[in-house]
Amino acid sequence: MFSKASQHIVDFVFDDAVADVFPDMIRRSVPGYETVIPITGLIAAQHVRPGGRIYDLGCSLGATTLAVLKQLNDIPCDIIAVDNAPAMIARARELVTDTRVEFLEADVLDLEMENASIVLLNYVLQFISVDDRLTLLNKIQRSLLPDGRLILSEKICFEEREIQSYYDALHLQYKRANGYSELEISQKRSALENVMIVDSVDVHLARFEEAGFSHADVWFRCLNWASFLVSP
Ligand SMILES: C[S@@+](CC[C@H](N)C(=O)[O-])C[C@H]1O[C@@H](n2cnc3c(N)ncnc32)[C@H](O)[C@@H]1O
Repeated sequence: MFSKASQHIVDFVFDDAVADVFPDMIRRSVPGYETVIPITGLIAAQHVRPGGRIYDLGCSLGATTLAVLKQLNDIPCDIIAVDNAPAMIARARELVTDTRVEFLEADVLDLEMENASIVLLNYVLQFISVDDRLTLLNKIQRSLLPDGRLILSEKICFEEREIQSYYDALHLQYKRANGYSELEISQKRSALENVMIVDSVDVHLARFEEAGFSHADVWFRCLNWASFLVSP
């Protein structure tokens, strides 16, 4: 997709066309994705006891859920995997058949959550309206058990213009090196412009604190993408 020139670029949506190419698209566009997902599974497994509950918010095709399942072996638990895109949830249901996983087609902003050992929010907050981000994080904080964790991954921005330009250029090179053409890169950028609003590491850290979390760490960073490990 985005490989043919279009007169009118519409806002990015997670529809059938995106679902068709999603694993390839995210791997080629998000530096570090192939490290973040398996390590997310590893971290999650440290906090899940038998009978525990995990929420995978904005689960797309279930890649993070699968990484968690791989580390949990046969431990009994409940994974609630949520996405508001029908195309994503339909395919995720076909790909992940483990009976411990329940897929919900729902908006994460409307979800009731409780007794969570782990909440996963990988590359999703950037698609949530800026005004709703604190409310969502506060809801996650209240849902976590005392030894639970939130794992959150995002694209990040920088306060200083020069640093921003430097990482923008590196990220562009990353996509070119992964075989994306100039046309694909520029059309995808236009489509995402209105729907993907990114924050700096400092904004994330301040928001975690305001939402009531006691501690937050950047556990992984690759170019302009970062992953946080956050304690309630
Ligand atoms: C970049 S993808 C996430 C990738 C996935 N977590 C992974 O690591 O493979 C963003 C996903 O968030 C979902 N999403 C965005 N806003 C949402 C919302 N308000 N409620 C539920 N899902 C949402 C989109 O439909 C999309 O599938």
